[in-house]
Amino acid sequence: MDKLIIRGGTPLSGKLTVSGAKNSVLPILAGALLAEGPVRIHNVPRLRDVATMIALLRNLGADVAGEDTTVEVTQSSVSRFRAPYDLVKTMRASFLLMGPLLARFGRAEVSLPGGCAIGPRPVDQHLKGFEALGAEVELQGGYVRARAAHGLRGCRIALDVPTVGGTENLLMAATLARGTTRIENAAREPEIVDLAECLLAMGARIHGHGTATIEIEGVPALRGSEHRVMPDRVEAGTYLIAAAATRGSIRLLNGQPSSLGVVLQKLEDAGAAIEAMPGGIALDMAGERPRAVDIATAPYPGFPTDMQAQFLAMNTVARGTSRVVETIFENRFMHLNELSRLGADVRLEGLRTAVVRGVTRLRGAPVMATDLRASFGLVVGALVARGDTVIDRIYHIDRGYEGIERKLRALGADVRRVSEGQPTS
Ligand code: EPZ
Repeated sequence: MDKLIIRGGTPLSGKLTVSGAKNSVLPILAGALLAEGPVRIHNVPRLRDVATMIALLRNLGADVAGEDTTVEVTQSSVSRFRAPYDLVKTMRASFLLMGPLLARFGRAEVSLPGGCAIGPRPVDQHLKGFEALGAEVELQGGYVRARAAHGLRGCRIALDVPTVGGTENLLMAATLARGTTRIENAAREPEIVDLAECLLAMGARIHGHGTATIEIEGVPALRGSEHRVMPDRVEAGTYLIAAAATRGSIRLLNGQPSSLGVVLQKLEDAGAAIEAMPGGIALDMAGERPRAVDIATAPYPGFPTDMQAQFLAMNTVARGTSRVVETIFENRFMHLNELSRLGADVRLEGLRTAVVRGVTRLRGAPVMATDLRASFGLVVGALVARGDTVIDRIYHIDRGYEGIERKLRALGADVRRVSEGQPTS
């Protein structure tokens, strides 16, 4: 397993272009199955999760051709409708194949994604919505089998929680249903807007994407199209937080301020000077230590759960004490123990709240990554720690951050990747 070795203490500075959004390209790749012609997707990030989704599409029989950051999906040879456990267990987003398969082919068999490190991750809202659309859904041997022999029919779906994946799965399924579907309490994340824009280019009829109520007027078929994936707002926010933690100054050349509203506000509360322009975002700490800032995660447009670990890591070296509340997932504080190994003063209050007392310096130590975003929380800790930090199991990072050592080195960090068995000193 690869490791990252980071020698901390250097403020990040310089310019960075973030990659295409992981949490947008994954539903878009699944949604390509809905069209009756090639779908060309641009600005595709090179990530493990993208490779997994492409493997799943090929496993169904789809033709997926890629050159550089463009991927073209052709559905004409799809002949299987089953997403196997051995692939689904490595990436929960595989479940996003359910809606497109059901809508386009009338059948789908997808392994239950099961939980993951951050929580049980149920899909009950997805299944409730598919049944409301007229599908027969049954659970068998750890698989969800769904049938819609006579197609799906539009309906009203009121989600109990604004689930991102649930909204995406049902949005995709509804595009080919007979009649109109209204999804209430829908998730409002920018990635859902990006998916909807791609579906609209295929000829779908969608209104209200990005709000809590989405209306989809079903059409008989969708056509091949092209789409450029939005820049990754989680990657953008992650690097801004890392720059703030290291008292640095960076400029994101393609960051979208509108997709990072509350995060930029919290960084300003921490003492950062933020310059938000249509072409990007600049952050400058003027060499100052960040101030401690309380955060509570919430569905968009609240503070993103996917940036909680990174922001908490910044708070570990901030001036003052802060409280970090995780309201979305049951177990998204696994970075706390590892950050404590670097000398952070953090403790859990119940299951949902971490109390962080800022210290002036962390000290490098061996740590272990546990899940994608927690791993970058450890990277932030390592960047501000005195001495070397060795981060093990960084395959978690490679799932969602393209070229992490290249990008960090471009910002002045002392970081290198070593493979299993190579010396780390
Ligand atoms: C998406 O996961 C993202 N993944 C996650 O990012 C992100 O953390 C999450 O949304 C929340 O923003 C992708 O987009 C590929 P949810 P998803 O369904 O769709 C509960 C990352 O690091 N829920 O919005 O699985 C669920 O238990 C990943 O990039 C139900 O109760 O998240 C959770 O508490 C991690 N029933 C809450 O909703 C359901 O049927 C949010 O889950 C579905 C969800």
